[in-house]
Amino acid sequence: MSGRDEQVLVIRNVEQRDLDACFETESRCFLPSEAASRENIARRIELFPEGFLVAELDGRVVAHVNSGSTGKDDITDEAFKAMVGHDSGGANIVIFCLAVLPEFRRRGIARRLLLRFFEESKELGKRRIMLLCKTDLIPFYRNFGYAYAGESASTHGGFTWHEMVLALA
Ligand SMILES: CC(C)(COP(=O)(O)OP(=O)(O)OC[C@H]1O[C@@H](n2cnc3c(N)ncnc32)[C@H](O)[C@@H]1OP(=O)(O)O)[C@@H](O)C(=O)NCCC(=O)NCCS
Repeated sequence: MSGRDEQVLVIRNVEQRDLDACFETESRCFLPSEAASRENIARRIELFPEGFLVAELDGRVVAHVNSGSTGKDDITDEAFKAMVGHDSGGANIVIFCLAVLPEFRRRGIARRLLLRFFEESKELGKRRIMLLCKTDLIPFYRNFGYAYAGESASTHGGFTWHEMVLALA
């Protein structure tokens, strides 16, 4: 980021010490019905730090993207969000959450996270990145090359979800 305030943005893999900051981001970015629990975030950090990136702005974690991996194509299973069925060697990497604290949005932080996530996923040998998003964010992910793969059977949080896929191989 070329910051007007000379701020330094670092994208790095998550560490256990980031749990509180990530939980705060999650809680402030999503409704209680859709936000990941602290326990689920802790599991994601513990089981798959390779697929969990944080954005640190001047030393403060202000955004993150996290994921699980699976060989299955059905990503609607709620238990998967708690890393049940997570397989580090699976061909698919599934983004659970991309979130930027409200006061740090529209500065390109999500872009930096997604581009790095794309590179890391390729490094991990994944074949595709998959995710579920709400209707209003379909154009956002299309802008990053994700293809629309249809409406999901998921009703997580009481919303309609859409599946987006980015082929890597
Ligand atoms: C969606 C979200 C991650 C975007 O983060 P951000 O750091 O503001 O995004 P960026 O500044 O990197 O924007 C990247 C591009 O997306 C566009 N964009 C940003 N927010 C957008 C939105 N809500 N809808 C559509 N496009 C959006 C930007 O204009 C920019 O486009 P450009 O490259 O053509 O200029 C952030 O608004 C957020 O955390 N929202 C709440 C949580 C959420 O809904 N997460 C996604 C579901 S998993």
